[in-house]
Amino acid sequence: MAKKLNLTLKVWRQNGPRDAGRMETYPARGIDEDMSFLEMLDVVNEELITQGKEPIAFDSDCREGICGTCSLVINGVPHGGRKGTTACQLHMRNFKDGQTITVEPWRARPFPVIRDLVVDRGAFERIIQAGGFISVRTGGTPDANATPIAKEIADKAMDAAACIGCGACVAACKNASAMLFVAAKVSHLNLLPQGQPEKNRRAQKMVWQMDREGFGACTVTGSCEAVCPKEISLDFIGKLNRDYAGALLG
Ligand code: FES
Repeated sequence: MAKKLNLTLKVWRQNGPRDAGRMETYPARGIDEDMSFLEMLDVVNEELITQGKEPIAFDSDCREGICGTCSLVINGVPHGGRKGTTACQLHMRNFKDGQTITVEPWRARPFPVIRDLVVDRGAFERIIQAGGFISVRTGGTPDANATPIAKEIADKAMDAAACIGCGACVAACKNASAMLFVAAKVSHLNLLPQGQPEKNRRAQKMVWQMDREGFGACTVTGSCEAVCPKEISLDFIGKLNRDYAGALLG
């Protein structure tokens, strides 16, 4: 039978973007160790609703580690610190009975808090809009094998494409840099033949938009790579720097 946990949560509560916010303490009792972290928050919210209190606002969608919306800093670490794991895939068996757990939103100026643990990640959308796409002429769908791609290149592009845009890299960085996100998004297109015609423009426009949004500079501390639930490599930042420098020269 699954073990039950009794926990204490210290949760960031903030009524809106202009509210100063504060930590509040809640008990989380009888939590099944097989629950995910978000399911545990669901249980706490049901209890709060039963008591006539405002439930804790937090983001989630897929709950399968795919969409990147579960933006929680758990015990000071984005997504809770389990290697290659999003908050929605983090199970309560990773915590100890009686433990106190802090839960906070991503903290970075370009990700303003909307309410409690929900932040506005529109800045990432605007970076994608600046160049994270491939322009194609309309027409019939090309044959799947019409453009041969070397296995090594395809694998690298897929590694970069694994980025789910959750923003943990920004939340972990002391500079609130978005370089790992931008590097992944630029690289997965720039590596492929279909992305080559807009390679230079893409690197420049996405980096410029990143700067406009107020993200900080990368000082290569590697905290982004350490918390990335998709284990995106820091090497992609090196590649982005080369693509960007090449674009300026070319
Ligand atoms: S809810 Fe989709 S990745 Fe966590």
